[in-house]
Amino acid sequence: MKTVRICYSAEEIRQKVDALAAVINRDYTGRDVLLVCVLKGAVVFFTDLLRRLTFDPQIDFIQVSSYGLATESSGVLTFQKDLTADIGGRHILLVEDMVDTGFTLYHLRQHLLDKGAASCRICALLDKPSRRKMAITPDYVGFTVPDKFLVGYGLDAGEHYRALPYLGVMEE
Ligand code: IMP
Ligand code: MG
Repeated sequence: MKTVRICYSAEEIRQKVDALAAVINRDYTGRDVLLVCVLKGAVVFFTDLLRRLTFDPQIDFIQVSSYGLATESSGVLTFQKDLTADIGGRHILLVEDMVDTGFTLYHLRQHLLDKGAASCRICALLDKPSRRKMAITPDYVGFTVPDKFLVGYGLDAGEHYRALPYLGVMEE
């Protein structure tokens, strides 16, 4: 593994997750919510966010891939794991690590609305708007970031670096 230069420390991430949770608590309290973790990259963010929610969401997991082991989206979305919960008429909040081209979330949201979800919002820890190819804007965003490849806090490069408690870039 290469050395990683820290961009967002564990403490900065903690404060950001607190702030996101406060807004989500305000918006969703009193509703029947299914909080969906987009595997695998969002898993650390998802479990941190979940423990700050003061309403009583149900949870589920979905895994799609458009990447393989490369760092560029291949343009094809494959479902590796679909939801197990019945989503008809339910309010879904998708929890994702990063919106890059937007391809993954654009198709994922369409898939869930086609299956009958009442609403489907997106909470992304990281947003790279300069890379966007699909018309999609996350409803809740942690950090808006420049066009750099980030690792750590669940995000990987070739399945490495996920366990780092901070977010950073690999040094050359
Ligand atoms: P999109 O479909 O191009 O928006 O890609 C979304 C997925 O690509 C994210 O869920 C991430 O898993 C992955 N991804 C995009 N940018 C990065 C990055 O900088 N680091 C790690 N994974 C990334
Ligand atoms: Mg992801």
